[in-house]
Amino acid sequence: MCGIVGYTGRDQAAPILLDGLSRLEYRGYDSAGLAVRDGSAPAEVVKATGKLFHLADKTDQGRALRGQCGIGHTRWATHGDPTVINAHPHVSGNLAAPGSGAGDSDVVGVHNGIIENFTELKEKLLRHGYVFYSDTDTEVVVKLVDYYYKKYRIGPVDAITRTMVRVRGSYALALMFRDFPGEIFAARKDSPLIIGTAEDASYLASDVPAILKYTRSVYYIDNLQVARVSPGQAVFFDLNGDETAVPLTEVTWDAAAAEKDGFEHFMLKEIHEQPAAVRDTLNSLVKDGRIDLGAAGLAEDTIRSLTGIVIAACGSAWHVGMAAQYVIEDLAGIPVRVELASEFRYRSMPMAAGTLVIVISQSGETADSLAALRVAKERGALTLAVVNVVGSTIAREADLVLYTLAGPEIAVATTKAYSAQLIAMDALAVEMARVRGGITGEQYDHLLAEMAALPDKIRRVLEDKERLQWFSSKIVNAHDIFFIGRGLDYAVSLEGSLKMKEISYIHSEAYAAGELKHGTISLIEQGTLVIGVLTQGKLFEKTVSNMMECKSRGANLMGITVNGNFAVEDSVNFTVYVPRTDEHFVPSLAVVPLQLLGYYTSVSRGLDVDKPRNLAKSVTVE
Ligand code: F6R
Repeated sequence: MCGIVGYTGRDQAAPILLDGLSRLEYRGYDSAGLAVRDGSAPAEVVKATGKLFHLADKTDQGRALRGQCGIGHTRWATHGDPTVINAHPHVSGNLAAPGSGAGDSDVVGVHNGIIENFTELKEKLLRHGYVFYSDTDTEVVVKLVDYYYKKYRIGPVDAITRTMVRVRGSYALALMFRDFPGEIFAARKDSPLIIGTAEDASYLASDVPAILKYTRSVYYIDNLQVARVSPGQAVFFDLNGDETAVPLTEVTWDAAAAEKDGFEHFMLKEIHEQPAAVRDTLNSLVKDGRIDLGAAGLAEDTIRSLTGIVIAACGSAWHVGMAAQYVIEDLAGIPVRVELASEFRYRSMPMAAGTLVIVISQSGETADSLAALRVAKERGALTLAVVNVVGSTIAREADLVLYTLAGPEIAVATTKAYSAQLIAMDALAVEMARVRGGITGEQYDHLLAEMAALPDKIRRVLEDKERLQWFSSKIVNAHDIFFIGRGLDYAVSLEGSLKMKEISYIHSEAYAAGELKHGTISLIEQGTLVIGVLTQGKLFEKTVSNMMECKSRGANLMGITVNGNFAVEDSVNFTVYVPRTDEHFVPSLAVVPLQLLGYYTSVSRGLDVDKPRNLAKSVTVE
């Protein structure tokens, strides 16, 4: 949600900033902007609405902006429409005309997050003679920094810490001060920001892929810290302005993993990376043929003492929770509640002793999931984060962390991170079942073998992609699609429906198959597509019956089932088969055709698959 980059070094900054922004465009793409300084000259600010290529065109691919120090931003609008004037960077002076330079401004900055008390702060600054040109909360922060900087005649770090004490909300900030050429000052609270250093150059970014090409040495700046960044160096300060140590971390992600690698879209590439994401995540949790949660810090005694589990997450990660609840309850016998993190944070749910709260998040930065984690901790629950991005806020704040190894996920619609989360939760369920005696040794070995076989089976599902491509060409003009299933099939339906609607913009709903006739069936008319997920033996007949109820009202039917259930072809118009596996793990296979269906439908409709409208990958605002 908004992407920030920064560069200071020996090379021309603008092309590097544009390159970084292109790798962060999944975080927001309403508008973008750059501020670049040439030595001690004031910053030049250029902004453009729409996708990043407009800014690249406007700056002649960055060549028109001279200077070796700069900051950039790609925006997902929160305060103020996506216009040039509201685009970042913002300046402390008056930006006379859209696209003009920073003029006599002392401070220029970019921001990711939301400043909750910006109206109150704006009024204060208006009283002190500041003039505002935009509707953004960012302009308010930049001007507040400027206000303290001048009022107390203090350095940038102190001006920023004073500002941090005064603002409420979330932010990652990158600022340049006119009197400090070649330096960038950064601060964060609850919004991601990393700083990378190389010889003679330093980089700032909201996310690792933006700088992987240049360096793997990264500082994860902590909440309420300030960084002073110069070429090849970063110094950190706490809220008191005292210098503080932040460890330098080596990023292990492969730089090629953040490239399209010959695929037309990141999403298609990431769909194909699922066998590796599942294999790597599972391998990291299995040692000597046994599941070992030692790295996550989840001790057997703790597992034995659990009285219940609450899973809190958003979007697809919540769908993983929905699937995991069936597996954990069925195998380990522990009661599970699955909560939308955005709701959980505002509920007064009593938390019994022995409750484990699991927060699932790819980015580890989702604001609602982070808030849910904090609420759970406040209420005394033990917390476990299942997270993909190493060093992210959720990973750092949870008591225990289980990392998924999906690698960088660039497409806004998640695929491989979802699959990695699913296998991590399955492994957790199986281990809990073993420790609590819910399964025999033989069952344990069988479940482990079935999980280990999943990557190969996912590969086989991917081989069927041409049929899905063909089918998607038949549904490009659909108005509504319904996804139905029961139990684990319902959980998969939720994800299939989200994949379809978020990238194809075709309205879709997922329903527990038995629930459809309690109202929604009135929406079924001639030709409405109903997709049934039919992988669970004892629920198969029941869901087929629900599909037939739709067919008799004119619906067109598609079914996803496991190999061998060929009778389904008598009832439905188009069938997709996935390999057989233990039924607890079929979601890992059944979700793949649904991802492909959403993908190809979006492509057939000529849409921007990797960057669907109005969405951002990492939702760091409430
Ligand atoms: C959908 C999608 C989102 C995310 C959700 C949570 O394709 O990607 O629904 O799953 O925004 O994000 P994380 O997992 O980063 O907390």
